[in-house]
Amino acid sequence: MRKDGTGGGGDPFDQYSCLDVRPFVATLVLLFLLTAVWQLQPTTLKKAPVNLSINSISKGKVSSIQGATENPGKRIFRPYGSAAALFVHMGSYRGGPNTFSVIGLASKPTHIFGRPWFKCEWIPNDPNLTAIRTKAYKILPDWGYGRVYTVIVVNCTFSENPNSDNSGGKLFVNAYYSASPRKYEKILAVDEIAGSYDESLFSLPHKYEYLYCGSSLYGDLSASRMREWIAYHAYFFGPKSHFVFHDAGGISPEVRDILEPWVRAGRATVQDIRGQAEYDGYYYNQFLIVNDCLHRYRHAANWTFYFDVDEYLFLPGGRSLASVVQEFSNYTQFTIMQNPMSSKLCVDKDHNQPKSREMREWGFEKLVFRNSIKGVRRDRKYAIQAKNAYATGVHMSENFKGKTLHRTEDKIRYYHYHDSINILGDPCREFIPKPSTGNVTWFEKIPYVYDDSLKRMGVKVKQFEAQSIGTMPDQN
Ligand SMILES: *[C@@H]1O[C@H](CO)[C@@H](O)[C@H](O)[C@H]1NC(C)=O
Ligand SMILES: *[C@@H]1O[C@H](CO)[C@@H](O)[C@H](O)[C@H]1NC(C)=O
Ligand SMILES: *[C@@H]1O[C@H](CO)[C@@H](O)[C@H](O)[C@H]1NC(C)=O
Ligand SMILES: *[C@@H]1O[C@H](CO)[C@@H](O)[C@H](O)[C@H]1NC(C)=O
Ligand SMILES: *[C@@H]1O[C@H](CO)[C@@H](O)[C@H](O)[C@H]1NC(C)=O
Ligand SMILES: *[C@@H]1O[C@H](CO)[C@@H](O)[C@H](O)[C@H]1NC(C)=O
Repeated sequence: MRKDGTGGGGDPFDQYSCLDVRPFVATLVLLFLLTAVWQLQPTTLKKAPVNLSINSISKGKVSSIQGATENPGKRIFRPYGSAAALFVHMGSYRGGPNTFSVIGLASKPTHIFGRPWFKCEWIPNDPNLTAIRTKAYKILPDWGYGRVYTVIVVNCTFSENPNSDNSGGKLFVNAYYSASPRKYEKILAVDEIAGSYDESLFSLPHKYEYLYCGSSLYGDLSASRMREWIAYHAYFFGPKSHFVFHDAGGISPEVRDILEPWVRAGRATVQDIRGQAEYDGYYYNQFLIVNDCLHRYRHAANWTFYFDVDEYLFLPGGRSLASVVQEFSNYTQFTIMQNPMSSKLCVDKDHNQPKSREMREWGFEKLVFRNSIKGVRRDRKYAIQAKNAYATGVHMSENFKGKTLHRTEDKIRYYHYHDSINILGDPCREFIPKPSTGNVTWFEKIPYVYDDSLKRMGVKVKQFEAQSIGTMPDQN
């Protein structure tokens, strides 16, 4: 089992299935109590509690601190600090002419035990125009996984475009603590300056065919594996594609150097999300990140793909990606089946064979053993037409308009090299002879078959990398 902080964009669901919920529930109850006491405090939130004590002391009401007021039985509950914010805003995006989404985190106990809600208000810059309001609806895409914080997507949909004359305005979201409308926080979500509204962003064709939304990258990522991954997928997706990476601490200077040429070539974007560490959400806040990416690029691409950097897409039928997705185009999303690969088994080669630098094999050329156990349920990854989605998850979206297609295994799959991304240096740790075609090799009680489908892409991918960004120094 992977330890916290040493992972890297791998799949967290494997680890959390047997989580003991008791300490978690106890934490929730404690948090709830803290939140409740905090909310009962009649003063505003901005006022520091310390100030109150100082005030009381300076006015000579020392006794009140011990709770002895006129009513000798009255006790005072004095909060210090706050356990979780009502709302932590990450991003707000226009999703169309009359709809917006506001992405953030919220105190989970508040949402379990309370009834917080949201209201949206558009205030035009032109004082002669009237403000318009709408009640928002909220989606909780990681409900059941959240920790102190849970992810919230607030959907503000107006009956018309609130900035139809393009004179500018601001979208405010009021976040209410409870069913009562009296206590709330006002959040400036969108500030649309005059002339900046561009309706053409919401019409076809999209800027990209394919967009990759990566989840939080953390831990010690292998720069070599990252180099191979992006070269492979930049080739796989073709020139009209773009990669968005989210750096939660995983992009070391070495990994940055690997991504830099692709960023300069306009093929990739790196978002620094290290600030997420302040907020205890599920697994480096990955649900927050995938939703931010969904809405940020909602109209940017035909298809938005969600998978990890230890996973490689592959088309087993030998068709082009464009023809495969064209066939899926009546579905809003399709899920992708996994080919689980060994992350340490390699073919025991003739060790006398000289290894020149140019001939050095990449990770996916060396890791050629596929776990051949059939009939077990494995995690899937997916692609979605983001313009039809309202919120999303790590394995699929459950909030969208349209249908999902699962029977895709003959056309598209992904090879999963679990945890290989965290092995610095050569991924090979065990060597076995190359089995004859169709023969099974048992290793650690798992049957493996030889599968060199990705290995056979190696030469083309390396040529493509050299053409795209020039020659890179070779590492392991
Ligand atoms: C306490 O708050 C009051 C009013 O809110 C302010 O005038 C005063 O300066 C504050 N005192 C301290 C010690 O911060
Ligand atoms: C608002 O209306 C007044 C009176 O009709 C007009 O004089 C003024 O120019 C208007 N302001 C803007 C910003 O359009
Ligand atoms: C992307 O969408 C445009 C507009 O609908 C379409 O013409 C094009 O074929 C699509 N491309 C792919 C790869 O799906
Ligand atoms: C999508 O649906 C339309 C209408 O039902 C149908 O005509 C078309 O053939 C479908 N496209 C694909 C690729 O299945
Ligand atoms: C908000 O919800 C409405 C109704 O479900 C939907 O039509 C709209 O696309 C959503 N907007 C965003 C930005 O997700
Ligand atoms: C598979 O490998 C085993 C052990 O190396 C060997 O005994 C067997 O003959 C092989 N079977 C085939 C079909 O090659």
